[in-house]
Amino acid sequence: MNRTQKLLIAFLSLVVLFTGVVISRVWIFKPQSTVKLVKISIGEYDTEIWGKNYPLEYAGYKKNMEMAPSPTGYGGSVKVQKAEMQPELYTNFKGNPFSKDYTEDRGHPYAMEDLRESKRIGPAAKGACITCKTPYIEKAYQEMGWGFASKPLTELMDKAKHPVNCANCHDPETMGLRVINPAFTEAMQKRGIDVSKASREEMRSYVCAQCHSEYYFEPGTFKVTFPWDKGLTPQQMYEYYSTKPSGFAQDFIHTDSQVPVLKAQHPDYEEWQNGVHGQFGVSCADCHMPYMRKSGQKYTSHWITSPLKTLDESCSPCHTQGKELLFSQVKAFQDNVWQLQHTAGQNIARAHGAIQKAGTNSAANQTELANARELLRRAQWYWDYVAAANSMGFHNPVQELNTLGQAIDLAHQAIDAANKAAGTNSL
Ligand code: HEC
Ligand code: HEC
Ligand code: HEC
Ligand code: HEC
Repeated sequence: MNRTQKLLIAFLSLVVLFTGVVISRVWIFKPQSTVKLVKISIGEYDTEIWGKNYPLEYAGYKKNMEMAPSPTGYGGSVKVQKAEMQPELYTNFKGNPFSKDYTEDRGHPYAMEDLRESKRIGPAAKGACITCKTPYIEKAYQEMGWGFASKPLTELMDKAKHPVNCANCHDPETMGLRVINPAFTEAMQKRGIDVSKASREEMRSYVCAQCHSEYYFEPGTFKVTFPWDKGLTPQQMYEYYSTKPSGFAQDFIHTDSQVPVLKAQHPDYEEWQNGVHGQFGVSCADCHMPYMRKSGQKYTSHWITSPLKTLDESCSPCHTQGKELLFSQVKAFQDNVWQLQHTAGQNIARAHGAIQKAGTNSAANQTELANARELLRRAQWYWDYVAAANSMGFHNPVQELNTLGQAIDLAHQAIDAANKAAGTNSL
């Protein structure tokens, strides 16, 4: 072997070695999301199929089955009756199924099971209830438009087998983020926002906002509608409801006080949007779906739960204050909100009693009584906006403490007005 041949062999060996290293690195560290083992078609709602292509995200999604209390003791993923902690719920929702069954939410994979088991669902329940529980909403809307909303729930339940999953947030072909609840797109359009032009950053909250928002069913059609025409604060949404949109006057009439009550439904997006993180562009996914690493791969956590279970990954990319301080700050916000929420709820319960008592007095001043009912209607909406939202105020402590302060004041005014209604005329 001459020198040139030796050099050539050495060179070729180097090339083989280098290529081998490159191939093995690419093979090991290749982002798993680009390895497509199966084709996921439009209308595929089975997570197992999606999971074949995206095992890390699928494993995270399955972790949502875990049922554990939250580290703060508020919220959590265990199905307990909320009234255990707040007995005032029984009084404040009298006349509505929420007084019988109102459980703490748990993971997305339980959405259909919990709907099926809910004691709030009777034979008269409508298809509209599936809107935020399953990706089947996509097919239902394609086939029937909003017509699906007024169908009997039992009819749709057989078809909507799959709970909230990949297809609610992802386009199966591009894996880009998407929104499939038409109620959200319509509500945003009315506010002058075209969701189809949203940035990736905005989509990281919009995918959640399509479900984690306040809504009502339009009378007659049962179309899911978000009350956002005047804005997203508790005051602005109350103003909107005061116009009785499409004849919608209340969710139920309270059995004792005859107050036409608005039942708030988890306004998480609204609360966050007006808060410091929402205003500063920190998305839902930033905290609830932080970046993780496994064997060198960076991926998005799909275990969507209390971010305090992953405090390092969820908060530390932005905050350097340290775990203990951050945790105790969250807990302090929540303890303050809980105290006022409980006080407001109890005063509202008392006000229902005072109005009931005045109502049984045939000599009561009816104008004053109507005034008392309006004050209590507003008080209960303010209280419930906070009570029905899901972070015990963390998403926006400033707004929530203000709202609860107003709820307490309004409840006292309602009690005064009820006493005045009964007292003035019994003289
Ligand atoms: C800055 C971080 C942050 C952002 C942004 C954020 N959250 Fe949260 N969220 C939290 C914390 C902290 C809690 C309280 C967890 C606890 O008490 O253990 C929470 C609680 C929740 C809960 C209740 C969880 C439970 O255990 O019951 C839901 C639901 C929720 N958030 C949804 C959202 C949605 C939807 C958005 C966007 C519109 C959002 N969050 C934005 C930090 C965040
Ligand atoms: C509630 C909404 C939601 C659901 C449900 C959901 N994802 Fe995601 N997913 C996201 C968000 C948000 C991101 C981050 C996207 C971004 O920032 O571009 C993401 C990112 C991804 C990515 C890109 C790679 C990565 O990890 O960042 C893949 C792949 C993925 N998801 C697969 C899945 C699969 C498979 C399922 C079902 C088992 C699923 N997702 C369910 C919201 C969701
Ligand atoms: C298609 C509707 C839908 C979408 C989209 C959706 N959620 Fe949910 N979410 C639900 C429902 C319904 C539940 C309650 C499930 C149950 O308890 O049966 C829930 C529960 C939760 C919980 C409570 C989990 C627990 O362990 O207590 C959190 C946190 C949460 N969602 C956050 C988010 C975030 C963040 C996003 C966006 C990345 C999002 N959700 C997108 C409908 C949705
Ligand atoms: C993407 C960046 C980002 C992430 C992630 C984030 N934050 Fe923040 N946080 C901010 C910004 C920006 C502010 C505004 C004040 C500031 O500049 O520090 C803020 C403010 C706060 C405040 C003060 C709020 C107030 O009302 O004064 C607390 C407490 C807080 N964050 C806790 C958390 C916790 C807990 C998490 C994780 C669950 C978290 N943050 C995740 C960016 C972030």
